[in-house]
Amino acid sequence: MHSQRKLEHLRVNLEENVQFPNLTTGFERYAFVHQALPELDLATVDTATTFLGHPLRVPLLISSMTGGTERARLINANLAAAAQTAGIAMGLGSQRAGLEQPEVAATFAVARERAPQAVIFANLGAVQLNYGYGLDHARRVVDMVRADGLILHLNPLQEAIQYGGNTNWSGLIAKIGDLVRDLGVPVIVKEVGWGLSGDVARALAGVGVAALDLAGAGGTSWSEVERRLTPDEDVRRIARRFADWGIPTTESLRMVKEATPDMPTVASGGVRSGVDGAKALALGANLFGLAAPFLKAAAVSAEAAIATAEEITRELKIAMFLIGAGNIDALQHTSHLRRLSPEEAIIMARSAE
Ligand SMILES: Cc1cc2nc3c(=O)[nH]c(=O)nc-3n(C[C@H](O)[C@H](O)[C@H](O)COP(=O)(O)O)c2cc1C
Repeated sequence: MHSQRKLEHLRVNLEENVQFPNLTTGFERYAFVHQALPELDLATVDTATTFLGHPLRVPLLISSMTGGTERARLINANLAAAAQTAGIAMGLGSQRAGLEQPEVAATFAVARERAPQAVIFANLGAVQLNYGYGLDHARRVVDMVRADGLILHLNPLQEAIQYGGNTNWSGLIAKIGDLVRDLGVPVIVKEVGWGLSGDVARALAGVGVAALDLAGAGGTSWSEVERRLTPDEDVRRIARRFADWGIPTTESLRMVKEATPDMPTVASGGVRSGVDGAKALALGANLFGLAAPFLKAAAVSAEAAIATAEEITRELKIAMFLIGAGNIDALQHTSHLRRLSPEEAIIMARSAE
């Protein structure tokens, strides 16, 4: 992708409202049942977990975002500082530009330099497997950041509404399977904000992917990003029609867990607090991920990115304390999450506005 376009992506995401106009994640439809006697010391609430065999201090992922430009290099350095300090995982943005222009690779590799111990995931668009990319490219993006795994992203809607997007998505499941077999590090598949269905989860489990990140609807909307970027009136109109397309994050999580109960699952897309994250874990996720809030913080400084990770961790811990869940396993098996009635959910949605 042209680096000018990458810069524009950052600018639009930082300066304009590109959240879903109407559709919500569904987190507002759930509430924890407060336990006035938690029978726990808040100081001992333990958020440690493991993901794909790697220890994490908090079940938190900085979702895949950026690279490719000088501004992106600074943002990746700040995000990596947060990952290293907070003991959380981090995804890089699509590394295609780093393969095509070797001097650009440093804008991604900075993450590993700043976070030598963090769990870091490389990133490529899965559709590239239909456009000349294969095992060699995948190995190179993993090596570029000494990644602990490769995330392949699925963004068929984004590609379909762009002029000149990569729209041949046939035969991809088998190609993802080939990569899973040969790459030698875990392959994770994620959406970018429209969610994974049960059928897609089952197909990906069938070819052996190591984990899924459902990246559901209700947070950042890439059709809204595209709508603001394009000078073309037709593309804007079409993007608008799909502004509320997608599977809300909590729905997608339910579908994925039902279809593939044992699959390690990251819940993301519109997660905006440690309380949302706690709900995601109580609904069966292993990790929760945030993109936009980390982008806004990392555009300011490393300290701001670290503070964001710390605040989310604190919120998660307080939520766990208030339902008497002393560790992540207890949170994942809590009986204190309640689905609100439709009337209650409407009130919650209003107060979140
Ligand atoms: C500026 C920006 C760039 C992104 N670039 C990528 C990318 O290269 N690869 C990818 O898998 N997802 C990418 N995403 C999608 C995010 O990883 C995430 O799935 C999506 O933004 C929804 O999460 P959110 O609601 O917390 O922002 C990007 C998101 C943002 C905000």
